[in-house]
Amino acid sequence: VHQWRGVIEEYRHLLDIPEGTPAVTLREGGTPLVDSGWLSGLTGAEVWLKVEGNNPTGSFKDRGMTTAMSVAVHEGAKACVCASTGNTSASMAAYAAKAGLKPLVLVPEGKIAAGKMAQAILHGGQVIMVRGNFDDCLRMARELSEKYPVALVNSVNPARLQGQKTAAFEIVDFLGDAPELHFLPVGNAGNISAYWMGYSEYAKLGKSTRRPVMRGFQAEGAAPLVNGAPVADPETKATAIRIGNPASWDLAVAAKEESGGSFTALSDDEILAAQTQLASKDGVFVEPASAAGVAGLLKAVAAGEDFSGKQIVITVTGHGLKDTATALEGFGQLVDVVVDADVDEAARAAGLA
Ligand code: F0G
Repeated sequence: VHQWRGVIEEYRHLLDIPEGTPAVTLREGGTPLVDSGWLSGLTGAEVWLKVEGNNPTGSFKDRGMTTAMSVAVHEGAKACVCASTGNTSASMAAYAAKAGLKPLVLVPEGKIAAGKMAQAILHGGQVIMVRGNFDDCLRMARELSEKYPVALVNSVNPARLQGQKTAAFEIVDFLGDAPELHFLPVGNAGNISAYWMGYSEYAKLGKSTRRPVMRGFQAEGAAPLVNGAPVADPETKATAIRIGNPASWDLAVAAKEESGGSFTALSDDEILAAQTQLASKDGVFVEPASAAGVAGLLKAVAAGEDFSGKQIVITVTGHGLKDTATALEGFGQLVDVVVDADVDEAARAAGLA
C-alpha cells in the first residue's frame, strides 16, 4: 500500500532546502480537490475547492511547517518561535512536538479561536499572549530570534514558502494544467506568494501551459493590500486574517501584477455568509477566513462578472472546527431546541408531525 509521504518526500527535487535535510513530517499535503457543484452551477464555471483543512493540524500551514521545521532541526535548533493568528502556532507546536523542539508562540490577546489555542497548548507550546495585534507579535518574534537561540518559523523564513508552493504543484498534477483563475484569502500574504512561486516554477518546467490569474481576498477591516497602505488597527471576525502589515507584501503584489489579478475587500457578513453556504451546500466546513475566496467569487458574480466556461480553483485554507464559536454566532436559538425523550415531541419540533 502506498501512503502519501508528505510534501518533502513527494516533491523534494523541486524544493530549495539543503540537500539531505531529514524530513520532519506528519504526512501533510496530498489534500483533495473537491468539485463544488454549488459554485459550478451558480457560475457556469468548473469550480474546484482545494481543501486545506484536511492537513494534519487542519490548515495549509503544515505544508510550510514541515519544511521550516526540517531545516531548523537540520541546522541544530533546539527551540522555535512564531507569531500567529492561530493556525501557524497550532502547526508549529505539532511539528515541534514531532521533532522534539520547544515551541514558543506569540499571539494577540483574546483574538485566537479556541480550537487553535487548544492545539498549541496540547502540542506543548509555551503560549504567550501579547497586548497587541499580529503585526506586534511578528515584530517581537523576529527580535526574539535575533537575540536568543530560537528559530523563527513564520513565513519570513524562506523554507516556509518552499513547502507551501507544493499546493500549486498538486493542483496542476491533478488537473493536468493550471486553472485559469485562482482565488484565496490573504493575510500575511505568504500563501499567495507561495502559490505564485509554485505555478511559475511548474510553468517553467513545462508541466503546465499557463499560470492562473491570482485573486486575493482580505477582510474590509484588515485590507492593507487593497488600500495600498498598512492598517494600524486591523479588525475582523475572520481572526486568521486580522493582519495590518503583511510580511510578504512585495511578493503578493508581484503575484497580483504578473498574473493580471486583483485584491478585493469583503465585509465580515459576506465572509460569514459564504462560510455557512459552503458548509450547507457543498458539505465543506471551513473557518471564517477560509471562506474569503468563496465570498469573493460570490461577490464578483453578484457584480455581474461572467465566469462561464472557466476553470477556477479556490483554496479553502483551514478547517471549520478551528472556530466553532464564530460559526454558530448567526444561528441563535436554532442550536438549542430541547425536548423530553419522546419521539412525538421530537417529530413536532422537527416539523415532521
Ligand atoms: N487562512 C487561514 C485559515 C489562515 O490561518 C491564514 C493565515 C490565512 C488564510 C492567510 O494566509 O497569511 O499566508 O496570507 N494565518 C496566519 C497564522 C497568519 O498565524 O496562522 P497568509
